[in-house]
Amino acid sequence: MGAEGLVERVRRLADGGGRVLVGIAGCPGAGKSTLAGRLAGALTAAGLPAVWVPMDGFHLADVELERLGRLSRKGAADTFDAHGYLALLRRLRAETADTVYAPSFDREIEQPIAGAIPVPPGTRVVVSEGNYLLSGEEPWPRVRAAMTEVWYADLDDHVRLERLVRRHVEFGKTPDQAARWVTEVDEPNAAAIRATRTGADLRIDVGGPAVL
Ligand SMILES: Nc1ncnc2c1ncn2[C@@H]1O[C@H](COP(=O)(O)OP(=O)(O)O)[C@@H](O)[C@H]1O
Ligand SMILES: [Mg+2]
Repeated sequence: MGAEGLVERVRRLADGGGRVLVGIAGCPGAGKSTLAGRLAGALTAAGLPAVWVPMDGFHLADVELERLGRLSRKGAADTFDAHGYLALLRRLRAETADTVYAPSFDREIEQPIAGAIPVPPGTRVVVSEGNYLLSGEEPWPRVRAAMTEVWYADLDDHVRLERLVRRHVEFGKTPDQAARWVTEVDEPNAAAIRATRTGADLRIDVGGPAVL
């Protein structure tokens, strides 16, 4: 589905009047964040003010991952504050009279930053995205239910892995460290994520021609 198709699909969801929450699930490196940012921009340009709110803002801080002994598995489902994310989604849906602040994730320091993303009252669409939006493990089904629709971003594994390694190198890992992290941490997560794609309302081949 091309860019116009995606914008029109969201416009129909917004016809009901309430704020729409669209989620994009997918494997690490599939292009979820890039697609969500572009979609929010395209929706805003089309007259539907939209804000991109990443699930990545709910990464647990390194200090807590260290305490839990999970720092070396950062990115696995249990290294996120899923309940905090769920609470924010519910607030975003219900509290439309006030600005609601969402956390961002800073890749330079690999830490979440509270209060970084304002979602103002006029926001019609929240575009969120993350690895586990379609997971069957608690509390993710409640995250799914808090969203209007959840899509799955699909990308050929060869292209995805190349981009994923490149992104790790861009943010400070050596090529060897990047390759090892992808094999040992990202890809076991990817296998579980890929299994959830049948639950999506829409599957998008982001490697296809001119998605956004
Ligand atoms: N359409 C595209 N063409 C080329 N590179 C892309 C495209 N979409 C994403 N990327 C790059 O691929 C990497 C992974 O994309 P990203 O959006 O961060 O994926 P995800 O959020 O699913 O992990 C990033 O470095 C991004 O810049
Ligand atoms: Mg991302």
